[in-house]
Amino acid sequence: MNLTMRPRRNRKSSAIRSLVRETSFSVSNLIQPIFIWDREKSEAVPSMPRVMRLNVEDLLRECEALVRLGISAIAIFPAIEPHHKDIQGLHGLNPDNVLLRALRAVKEAFPELVLIADVALDPYTNHGHDGVLDAQGRIENDETVEILCKLAVVEAQAGADIVAPSDMMDGRIGAIRYALDQAGFQGTSLMSYAVKYASAYYGPFRDAVGSKLGKSALDKSTYQMDPANSREAIREVLSDVEEGADMLIVKPAGAYLDIISMVRENVVLPIAAYQASGEYAQIHAAANLGWLDYERTRDESLLAIRRAGADMIFTYFAREIAEANS
Ligand code: PBG
Repeated sequence: MNLTMRPRRNRKSSAIRSLVRETSFSVSNLIQPIFIWDREKSEAVPSMPRVMRLNVEDLLRECEALVRLGISAIAIFPAIEPHHKDIQGLHGLNPDNVLLRALRAVKEAFPELVLIADVALDPYTNHGHDGVLDAQGRIENDETVEILCKLAVVEAQAGADIVAPSDMMDGRIGAIRYALDQAGFQGTSLMSYAVKYASAYYGPFRDAVGSKLGKSALDKSTYQMDPANSREAIREVLSDVEEGADMLIVKPAGAYLDIISMVRENVVLPIAAYQASGEYAQIHAAANLGWLDYERTRDESLLAIRRAGADMIFTYFAREIAEANS
């Protein structure tokens, strides 16, 4: 054939392919989420292979390993004992709760490690929702935001470098920014879960933190976004930008690459994508059955998220990627 264009020439060797490669991910783009709890023994999370719920001592050991491996940021999620949970999630503000103790301990031992703390009530409420309920059992937006402001301040006080509201209440970014500034935490960053879908991919996470009630899936669709919508994502990010967010999160990642790409085109702030627990679990599950190649699928999943436009990725694979590259 007499072809002018032969795109295959740019793929003819590994060296050429690496010259023309458009995207990559590296350890410096990855954020490791970590589960902690207040028990004597750390334990595995059944629906998330290789993921543990760590006690604070083991958390410090883990951080030491992560720092050595070049991971620069972690996001800590507490699994709270049922007897500490109530209808309003008040335990979140208790200075002795396991999250605040962990933040203080890690910040003291590893001051350079970037600590990200979720701002939401679900670890602490006995109904598992991210907000407080009104008399009809609906999530009360403004009252929830008031508590979230306090939660963000105690997390900043305990050493969080970044607070990350994952609750999807309206107006919380502006309110939290104001509360942090009033409390003297002008330097604490706000990373907004601006675009968080009411997704089935959070299942294993809810196992890990114990926020699932019985067998029925918790319905968060009056505050988290409808998976059918994309224009609404732009509405959410634009309001969070205006309210003072420093960085934005899109979550989940893999099934929402179009959203990541759209957000990338509409705002200049750094974007983090959160590869949710279910995305992690499904790769493990298929690989365990011998149906997918584990490493190749894992790496492709992360590359796709970067290609869509994410600067950073929250991923449960972070540590093992760092290990593979060290
Ligand atoms: C809680 C929260 C969730 C996740 C992060 N923060 C779960 C939820 O909204 O129910 C999901 C994490 C994951 O699935 O990996 N506000």
